[in-house]
Amino acid sequence: MMTKASNPETQFHTLKLANVNPLTDDSIMLTFDVPEHLKPHYQFVPGQYLTLRARIDGKLVSRCYSICSPQGEEHLSVAIRKISDGQFSGYAVENLAANDELEVMPPMGRFQLVPHAPKADYAPCYVGVAGGSGITPIMSMINTVLKNEQDSKFVLFYANRSPDTMMFRDKLEALKAEYPERFFLLPFFSEDPSQQLTIHFAIADSLDGMIHSIDGTRSAKQTTEIRTLLSDIPDLTEASHWYLCGPQGMTDMVQNILLDNDVDESRIQRELFTAAVSESSAAAGSSAAAGLKGASKSKPEGTTASATSSSAGATQISVIHNGQSVDFDWDDSNEVILNQALKQNEDLPHACQFGACGTCKAKVIEGSAVMNENMSLEADEVEQGYILTCQAVPTSERVVISYDDI
Ligand SMILES: Cc1cc2nc3c(=O)[nH]c(=O)nc-3n(C[C@H](O)[C@H](O)[C@H](O)COP(=O)(O)OP(=O)(O)OC[C@H]3O[C@@H](n4cnc5c(N)ncnc54)[C@H](O)[C@@H]3O)c2cc1C
Ligand code: FES
Repeated sequence: MMTKASNPETQFHTLKLANVNPLTDDSIMLTFDVPEHLKPHYQFVPGQYLTLRARIDGKLVSRCYSICSPQGEEHLSVAIRKISDGQFSGYAVENLAANDELEVMPPMGRFQLVPHAPKADYAPCYVGVAGGSGITPIMSMINTVLKNEQDSKFVLFYANRSPDTMMFRDKLEALKAEYPERFFLLPFFSEDPSQQLTIHFAIADSLDGMIHSIDGTRSAKQTTEIRTLLSDIPDLTEASHWYLCGPQGMTDMVQNILLDNDVDESRIQRELFTAAVSESSAAAGSSAAAGLKGASKSKPEGTTASATSSSAGATQISVIHNGQSVDFDWDDSNEVILNQALKQNEDLPHACQFGACGTCKAKVIEGSAVMNENMSLEADEVEQGYILTCQAVPTSERVVISYDDI
């Protein structure tokens, strides 16, 4: 079956690596050359990510990596930290070199810098809260704000295990020296377990102190250290926007602190790199997370189009991508549509596979499906029939899904 023409925004394009630079012992920055004819497709808003794809051990593997370069720069960069036993990150950090080619999908993602026009009596102040590799999208935001907005300020709370594992450490120190009145770097190190909550206490203190979402006490030494760190930063009760990116447990807790302290949820954005790692971290955020971008919404969600009868037996599925359709019978009530569809067409867009990135977004154009998790689509998109195929199971006897209708 032929349908509408393929969409270059949801296709992989082959890009050459201009540079591969080490950042720490276990992380690198990849810088891509974008050919002139593809440049319009690689415009981005700071905060967005690229989906990279490579054939590793004979299998196509796709993963998301946030853009760390500032808006308007000639080259496009992402930074990757190698995680233990990580398929793509291990491959990238150990193998990639300048002049290698990778398949790269154009920028995507709703975690986006919201620029503010300065008013006569008020200069916008943005706050980033990053943990580990969660610095990458915020790095792009910081550089863009400092370059494009003359009076705006940026405050960064940045948690790492130790100074040695801090990505972009030199660049951040250099920005601090270049913009002493506009960029405020607050590093936190958690190698010593007693320090793990310091960043949360500091954020609470920066908002005048409501901390009932923090289950823990601090030492007098921590209090003094926090006071010293906060002594020079702007008043954050008036911050324009909070951008959180890091492990789920950490960002859940920060979100709760912000909400406890009357930061409007429209001023908070969050990006998750991985699914929840522990029950306790998920529980910590469950109440405040509802309704925020990046937060897990209740499940199941996203019944679409007409019929809604549940079908545990064979269901006919058609998946349209790049104008071509593949048809198959879905006969496993436990498997999501994406997993079965990939067996027919390994080219189908996908990356995180836990409902966060939105790369696998497609439209149900016939029949219906329901999602287990949705941390990416807005309510109106679900209303219009969009699903995350990595989270969707069919609920009608025939389902037609199109990746081209987005
Ligand atoms: C929107 C988005 C943006 C992202 N941006 C970045 C970025 O800028 N830089 C970056 O380094 N990563 C980023 N990630 C994470 C990245 O996409 C991969 O998930 C990560 O590199 C691991 O992939 P892998 O193939 O190496 O590991 P896999 O082979 O997929 O996983 C191996 C094991 O590690 C666990 N795991 C997976 N991801 C993580 C993680 N992030 N931390 C700890 N354990 C994990 C898995 O549960 C599994 O047990 C982003 C993810 C998303 C969804
Ligand atoms: S692959 Fe990321 S949301 Fe489905």
